[in-house]
Order: sequence, then C-alpha cells, then structure tokens
Amino acid sequence: MNKIVFSGIQPTGELHIGNYFGAVANWVRIQNSGEYDATYCVVDMHAMTMPYDPPTLRKNTEGLFIDLLAAGLDPAKSTVFIQSLVPEHAELQWIFSCICSFGDLTRQVTFKEKSEQLEGRQDAFVSAGLFNYPVLQAADILLYRAGFVPVGKDQEQHLELSRTIANRFNRTFGHEYFPEPAVLATETPKLLSLNDPTRKMSKSLGPKSYVALFEDEKNVRSKIRSAITDTGEPASEIGAGALNLLGLLRATGRADVAAAFETEYATGEQRRYAPLKDAVADAMVDLTAGFRARRAEIAGDKDAIRRLMYEGAEKARVVASQTIKDVRRLVGLPRR
Ligand code: TRP
Repeated sequence: MNKIVFSGIQPTGELHIGNYFGAVANWVRIQNSGEYDATYCVVDMHAMTMPYDPPTLRKNTEGLFIDLLAAGLDPAKSTVFIQSLVPEHAELQWIFSCICSFGDLTRQVTFKEKSEQLEGRQDAFVSAGLFNYPVLQAADILLYRAGFVPVGKDQEQHLELSRTIANRFNRTFGHEYFPEPAVLATETPKLLSLNDPTRKMSKSLGPKSYVALFEDEKNVRSKIRSAITDTGEPASEIGAGALNLLGLLRATGRADVAAAFETEYATGEQRRYAPLKDAVADAMVDLTAGFRARRAEIAGDKDAIRRLMYEGAEKARVVASQTIKDVRRLVGLPRR
C-alpha cells in the first residue's frame, strides 16, 4: 500500500503556534510514527505568486527550513527540502498545466480570494503564477507519487484538483501511474487570534494575534496577558477567547489543567481568567523555550545548515528525477 506522505508550507515569515499545532506538530507525529515515508517541503516558488521582496523571500525560506528542523522534523527520518532546489517541480508543473483545464483553475476559491485581496492595492498584479498555483501544488505532491497529504480543510479544493490532474494523466498517458492523493485528516486544534477570538490566528491580524514559535518569554507572557477572553457572550457561556486559551492548554498536553478550569467555570458565576492566563503563559513559555534552544543550536552552525539544505534537495531529487524520466517518456518528450 502507498504510504507516501507529502506536505508543503509557504515561507511567509515566522512560524506561530497556530502553524505549529495546525500543521508542523502533525508532520512530526507522522514522521515519528514510522508508518509513512514522509517528504516535507518549504514551497518558496509558491511564495512568488503574490507580490514579494526578493531578499525577504530568501531570508524567510532559509529561516523556515531551520525552524522546521528546530520544531522536530528530522532529516534522518524524513526528506526535508526547499522546493526551488528541485527543478523537477517546475518541469512537472508545465506538463500538468497542459492537462489541467482553464475552467477548473478559474473555479479555485483561493485564486478568487487572493486576486480580490490584491484589488485596490498599490502593488496589485494578478500573475499567471497565482492562477497556476494549484498546478504547481499538484506537481509537488505527484512528483513523489504521494497518496497522503496532511493539510487543513482550506486545501481540500487544491487536493481535489490534484486528483483531477492525476486522473487525467492516467487516462491520457498511462494507466495508474499516479495515485490519487487524499487529505490525511487528523484532529488539529483550530487556534483563534489572541486579540480577536472571532477569527483564526493569523499573522495578518498583527503581532498581538499570535505567539511565535521562537518568541522570548517576556513577549509570550505579555501577549497572553492581554489576550481577549470575552466577546459579549451571555453570562452563562465561557467567552470565545477563554475557550481558545483552554484549547491552547490542551494543545500543549495540559488537558487536565484545562479540565480543572472548565469545571470551575461551569457555574456561570464570576469567572476569574487571570489564573487561566498564567497557566497558558507557563505552558507557552515551556514550549517556546525548548524550540528557541534548539533553534539557537542549529542556526549557530551555518555549514551544517547549508549541508542539510543541499542534502535534502538531493534526496528529494532521487525520487523526483525518476518520476520526470517516466513522465517524459509517457507524454512524448525526448529522453534526456
Ligand atoms: N497551498 C499550501 C498552503 O497554502 C502549501 C502547499 C504548496 C502544499 N504545495 C503543497 C501543501 C503540497 C501540501 C502539499 O498551505
């Protein structure tokens, strides 16, 4: 049975605990389960589909590679690499764009959302790359002939398109060459913004919205202290922000502590949230201190990072170049 896992993450700046609990922690779990052959990718070429600054892209790409290692991805167990260092991604993307229909791409919700976001901005420019974004994503996944893709619900439509492309390829050029990749769904906590618990935790809501994975203790404590707990709920209900803080406690493995607060809050009388915030801050500080220490250790050895970056890409290319060889033959391109 196909036990190949692939996932990717965009280098858009520092990782926060929402990214960690929503994606990376899950990747680490999959890796350590020993049940899968897992490949994880920093998708720097996807980050070029929106207006960007080149030095920032390079800094974020290398930074995220280090962050992923500090957060627990292990190059000895998984393949961890940077997308653009494996040129086969771009090559397969072109081949796939010739079997992906224009109509299917126009129906992608993420394209509509992102092109609308750009409207009215000074740097507004809707590129063909943004339109082709899901084709590149299908190439990412199918280059490794992955059957499982751990991603959130927001990526379901992209996965559907990857299946459509795999299917069309198989029907047109050769039976069953590509598997149809499915979302590898797992329970991941949905963390809300600390400063606006009606919305998902996101960097776009400002630094007070999130706790970064490598943030220092003072900042972590002050952000948690100023987190919003209630948003006008009736007195009988626990505030949305407080529920989010309870969720954070559970995410860090302190479900017992969270349960104790819940019991205390169940009465609907005056609720004291300061002790909850202290408990959450302690949990966050413990988590981030570990990450910070590991990051400092890894980031100190520049040569080792370079080596891991190129070794990761080489390892990915072993698989990717075989797929491209097969695909070129199937679609009628000359042998290289
Ligand atoms: N589109 C994904 C996101 O925004 C990132 C991504 C790119 C990805 N290529 C991928 C995810 C391949 C899974 C598999 O989160």
